[in-house]
Amino acid sequence: MLSEQEIAKLNTIMEQHAYDKTQVIAIMQAIQEEYRYLPEDALRYAAKELKISEAKIYGVATFYENFSLQPKGKYVIKVCDGTACHVRKSIPILNEFRNQLGVSESQPTTEDMMFTVETVSCLGACGLAPVCTINDEVHPSMTPQKVKELVAALKEEKA
Ligand code: FES
Repeated sequence: MLSEQEIAKLNTIMEQHAYDKTQVIAIMQAIQEEYRYLPEDALRYAAKELKISEAKIYGVATFYENFSLQPKGKYVIKVCDGTACHVRKSIPILNEFRNQLGVSESQPTTEDMMFTVETVSCLGACGLAPVCTINDEVHPSMTPQKVKELVAALKEEKA
């Protein structure tokens, strides 16, 4: 159930795009920015207001990798496992993040909704391999030791 406040926010987003169904991707990006993912209720409401089918909006949500139907943590950590990063040992980095935060492939987000750990196939910064990003900030030449330091710093920030 959407609150009145949420409905007002969604209406503002759609007004900013003139309720134009051809701008559905931009509208969904704005919704995702607001919630950090695409909640079902918000998608249904947007579909109704934009006069498009729910199937269509879900189709868009599942087609694009950047859209998420699952809630994500405040800090989204993306560990690159593209070829350049993989050969420079990205897996121990991924494992260290998961160990430090107690998450896994099937349960990528911490219970307190602070951290999500995911993998990506190439972050476009192969020269800096192995690379990870934390909320789009690039961290080059990662090591398991750097993971420990980063996680400790983020937890401190959060405290
Ligand atoms: S393979 Fe990791 S940045 Fe390209």
